[in-house]
Parts: sequence; structure tokens; C-alpha cells
Amino acid sequence: KTTYWGHACFTVEVRGKKLLFDPFITPNPLAAGIDIESIEADYILLSHGHEDHVADAIYLAKKTGAKVICNWELFVWLGKNGVENAHPMNTGGSFRFDFGTVKCTVAQHSSSLPDGTYGGNPMGFVISTDTESFYYAGDTALTLDMQLISATKPALQLALLPIGGNFTMDVNDAIKASDFIQCNRVIGLHFDTFGYIKIDREKAIQSFNENNKELILLNIGESI
Ligand code: NI
Ligand code: MN
Repeated sequence: KTTYWGHACFTVEVRGKKLLFDPFITPNPLAAGIDIESIEADYILLSHGHEDHVADAIYLAKKTGAKVICNWELFVWLGKNGVENAHPMNTGGSFRFDFGTVKCTVAQHSSSLPDGTYGGNPMGFVISTDTESFYYAGDTALTLDMQLISATKPALQLALLPIGGNFTMDVNDAIKASDFIQCNRVIGLHFDTFGYIKIDREKAIQSFNENNKELILLNIGESI
């Protein structure tokens, strides 16, 4: 079960555990209808340090007690802000948690923290259980490194990819990324939140269809 909270923020339930990605809810006017107090999490995964990915991370980590999975620099930043239940990783690393395995993938982007300090390298995540896998790309350009992700076992069933352009891949690059990772079922993220990343939803879905791919654009608060 995947629920969209706006921008790049999702909850994905894996084996009964709620994985919350890149919480940015209270500063997002499009997510004004979401009560942050209703958000539950067993794990919080942070792709990089930008405000539009970590704005509610400290608050929700403390409130829920969820374990935060992130790169080393975000781990240190969380510790300075009183979040001790965290697991540091870095690009290329994998670790087996109770819900499945997290592999940190290359994301071609930048990463600084809201206080201006260095945020380490941005990452994406491949989450795998014994029977299924999905890819959360984070903020990234299209990169040939994504071809390596196609070797994921079990094969990817779903990919959460940025489609808004300007700061990340746009729709056309996300279609190429979908080829690179060999996964034709995509949920879009990082679109419409700011003026720079407004998209034409119908055209985006149509472009995916023309390439025999599926683009799912969830409404904020909607689950599939
Ligand atoms: Ni970013
Ligand atoms: Mn971003």
C-alpha cells in the first residue's frame, strides 16, 4: 500500500511496516489538507538534505519513534537535533532490516541541510523483500547508473520517479529512466509543488502510455 502526502513524500507499507519517505508536509501548501499528527511511521527514509525532503523529519522521528535511514551526514545532523534512533548508510550500501533490504542507489543531484551545512551525497533507495522490490529515486537527473538497478532481484514492480523537471528529471527523462531500470510502472513525484515544476498531468500520462508504460499520479492523501 502506497500513500502520497505531496511532493516527494510517501508512505509505503512493506510487510506490515510503514516506511515514510522524505517528509515535507507542513510547509507544503498543496498538502494543507493533511494532518501531520495522522502520519504514522516505523521507518523514515531520507534521500538527501534539502528542505523539501526533510522539513518534518525531526518532528516526525521524535513523535513516532521511527528509525531514520539516511546518509552519514544526515545521521550526524539528526543526532545534533536530538534524533538518536537512526541508521546511517551511504551510496552503494545495503542493509537488511526487519521489513526487507534497503540498497542505497546513486542519485545525481546535490544535498545541503536547512542550516546550510553539507548534506552528503543524495541517494535513492531500492527496497526488496524475498518476493518483490521497488525503487524510490529521490531527486535525481537521468543517469546511466540507473541501468545497474535493472539487475535488482526480485525484479522491480514499481518505481517512484521525479517527473517535474527543472531540479530533477522531467517526464521524458523519467520514461528513459523507466527503460534503464526495466520497470514500466511508475508513480510520479516532485511535480506541481512549486512554479518551476508544474506539469501537464494528462500529457505526462499520455507520454508514458505512448511508450507502453504506466504513470500513476496520486492525489495528495490518496493510496493505492
Ligand atoms: Ni533536492
Ligand atoms: Mn527536492
